[in-house]
Amino acid sequence: MANNLGILGYDYVEFYVGSAKMCAYWHAKSMGLKITAYSGSESGVKGKVSYLIEGDNLRIVVTSAVDPSEFKISSFVQKHGDGVKRWALKVKDVEYAFDTAVKNGAVPVSTYKKIEDKNGYIEEAAVKLYDDAEIVFSKRDNYKGQFKPYFIEPIQHINIEAHKTGLKEIDHIVGNVRINEMDFWVNYLNKTLNFETFLEFGMGDISTKYSALLSKVVRSKEADIKNPINEPYEGLKKSQIEEYIDEYLGSGIQHIAISTDNIIETIANMKKNGVDFLEPPDSYYEMLRKENIDITEDIADLQENGILCDHTESKGYLLQLFTKPIGDRPTFFYEIIQRRNGAEGFGQGNFQALFESIEKDQIQRGNFDRD
Ligand code: FE2
Repeated sequence: MANNLGILGYDYVEFYVGSAKMCAYWHAKSMGLKITAYSGSESGVKGKVSYLIEGDNLRIVVTSAVDPSEFKISSFVQKHGDGVKRWALKVKDVEYAFDTAVKNGAVPVSTYKKIEDKNGYIEEAAVKLYDDAEIVFSKRDNYKGQFKPYFIEPIQHINIEAHKTGLKEIDHIVGNVRINEMDFWVNYLNKTLNFETFLEFGMGDISTKYSALLSKVVRSKEADIKNPINEPYEGLKKSQIEEYIDEYLGSGIQHIAISTDNIIETIANMKKNGVDFLEPPDSYYEMLRKENIDITEDIADLQENGILCDHTESKGYLLQLFTKPIGDRPTFFYEIIQRRNGAEGFGQGNFQALFESIEKDQIQRGNFDRD
């Protein structure tokens, strides 16, 4: 097809953070991931430090500035706090994907680059997303070293012990945008990356008595890439999306969902590792029991670990749970997800229980009433 970009899947996500060393430690210890590569002065890079943290087919990079000359990193963190700067898509041909996206209206932020060292080369180019984020087109097939040129084997944080979590790969990445911006970004992704709108939640679909949101899900026609986009909808109180926009100071990435084949074990071990999760109310499990649903898991095990189960889908069911925000601001968090029997949704049947537990936290933060 003329508009295909040659997208193969997610490659990695990169955060800009205040301290890459400490954020890498958190991911290794709490998420049970391994630090597998490092970039900094020891590898010939001045001004910034990065760690690569890996799970099964999951790559997370955390980067921080160690010199004022790297003001793009420090000003991002100064404005937004720790957050996702870019998500990278693995593509067949970086130049072709970038040129096609830009021809279709994507805003270029980094033109085609081939970066090489003695281990080979990688290719990258990037286009704009939301206020300050980017989508990278990446190809690393011709590189034999650690991740990318100027990365070396980690020299610190190599022996961090954690309970095993079995985190596999990115399932979806979610953006939060301001009122009236959702359709803009839906069209942007559909036009420039050859995505399509897959699900839509309008007014009244996702709401509690007090707060509401609108959401559309776009997905790649070529690969398993899914990207819900939320915007606040007027409610009696401040919605979690509005809170995000206020605290992040703009639009950006709200959460990354990571898949597992055994969510009960994953959540139990992440809790042992010290990760804080949202806590669904007991009434949620009473409701599940009454509904007499046909699932493999024991509802008692779900309740003990606080796992949500959405069985309102046309196919299969999904199990999920959300961490509390991982940084200092109530902005970015992770979702852990297990899809059973081909479930395709995002947990819309759980939003009610979820919103109520988020609202409890918002009240604690003093961020529920409008100022
Ligand atoms: Fe999600």
